[in-house]
Amino acid sequence: MPASEAAPQWQRVGLLNEIPRMGAKTLTHPGGRVAVFRTADDQVFALDDACPHRGGPLSQGIVSGCRVYCPLHDWCIELQSGEAVAPDEGQTGTLATRVDGDVVFVALPI
Ligand code: FES
Repeated sequence: MPASEAAPQWQRVGLLNEIPRMGAKTLTHPGGRVAVFRTADDQVFALDDACPHRGGPLSQGIVSGCRVYCPLHDWCIELQSGEAVAPDEGQTGTLATRVDGDVVFVALPI
């Protein structure tokens, strides 16, 4: 089976309350660093922790609605798609998330 069809490896991130509201928690894996965001209304999204502009740490950005503003040059990134909001262009990788009860998981690439 090709790797892209393999079942995801669900990694426990922690309790929902351990992720700051309108903030992020990071975790590191062999492929890089992931930022797991929690919105004001407790939606959870995971992105590669690297802005599509110049790799800024999105986990340190400001979350507004379902977007995050990069702390370096203020690009705005959609949490759902990882796409930069126009007029900026680019996309950062996204990862699936799952919340079981109050425990958050992220699907890491195998
Ligand atoms: S590195 Fe994110 S806006 Fe420049």
